[in-house]
Amino acid sequence: MPTMADVARSAGVSVATVSHVLNGTRPVLPHTRQAVLDAIDALGYTPNTLARSLVTSRTRSIGLAVSAISNPYFTEILQGVEAAALEAGYSLLIADPHDDPGHERKVVQLLHERRVDGMIVAPSAHPHDLVGYLRRHAVPTVFLDRVIDAGMTDGGATSDGAGGGVGAAHGEGTPWYDQICAESTEPTARLVTHLAGLGHLRIGLVAGLPGLSTTSERVAGYRDGLTAAGLAHDERLLVSGNSESAGAEQATAALLALPDPPTALVTANNAMTIGALRALRRQGLSVPDDIALCCFDDFAWADLFSPRLTAIAQPSRELGAHAVQVLLHRLNEPHRPTRTVRLPCAFVHRTSCGCLEEPGGSEDPAHTASTTLSEKGIAS
Ligand code: HPA
Repeated sequence: MPTMADVARSAGVSVATVSHVLNGTRPVLPHTRQAVLDAIDALGYTPNTLARSLVTSRTRSIGLAVSAISNPYFTEILQGVEAAALEAGYSLLIADPHDDPGHERKVVQLLHERRVDGMIVAPSAHPHDLVGYLRRHAVPTVFLDRVIDAGMTDGGATSDGAGGGVGAAHGEGTPWYDQICAESTEPTARLVTHLAGLGHLRIGLVAGLPGLSTTSERVAGYRDGLTAAGLAHDERLLVSGNSESAGAEQATAALLALPDPPTALVTANNAMTIGALRALRRQGLSVPDDIALCCFDDFAWADLFSPRLTAIAQPSRELGAHAVQVLLHRLNEPHRPTRTVRLPCAFVHRTSCGCLEEPGGSEDPAHTASTTLSEKGIAS
């Protein structure tokens, strides 16, 4: 097997120069760099990443802990993370914490023991142990999708004050970690006002798992929408589907059993949309003639349902890609101030809301997301 010394000899440079080219530890003149790359290619040299890690104390790997990887929303996030990590020369170690706090803490510890350089985590509804662990061990961390209340974690500070950013700048009330998520409140309000604008007075919400920020923000958006439309808040119309299909099916059935059931429904994620549709079908109700439906989350086949689903599209791939960028910024500049980035969603206007045809001009989430990112200085 060819060694680094063989590459150096073949390229006519020192072993240190080969190392700088491989590890990016120092700038190397373009023609020298090319000579090294050509020699690597000609000899079929494969770098030993374990040996490299011993020298650099970096593994060039990222730990990703995301529950419900089979959910298309999270699968797309994963694709975004994977593509961005690959482009930056990082490999990924992936774990599914199954939205269980104990499991979550365990898988994150396992990833940390593999010495990933940093972690991207979609936290569960009860992330105390997880956050405490990451902070105690000063793991550079980006929380993804669900944001965490900064106050929850301050008790776990290390004695030297180092945080997840290994000394990241964070003031009182500011988290020690970075976060990236999609807007939830305003887009949910928009679904409600859209339905209200079509004449609906009783609009139900099938909400997600209590404890997740995405749930509380979408509930807040539902209430904001009712208020903006001048509609009464009837708490019986707000039910929990626990973020999953079966829960949503039950919750929707409960809504339909009310003496004065809703005439329109908002579902707070893709899985719950499926559950709600099952409940409606069981009751023999058709959308939108018997009940209108708008949902959070667009998915690849949302326009194949009949009627086609009016939905909020999250910039899932961008969330994943930018989570990697935020983490790499943190690794390169450990003391930079921490930040919470929110990406905008797009309203995708189809027909399940009761509108006869698409007015056209649905917003493009990728476009709006990148605009906001460059405004926030993240895209660079
Ligand atoms: N968060 C945000 N959007 C989602 C989720 C979630 O957990 N699940 C499906 N869509």
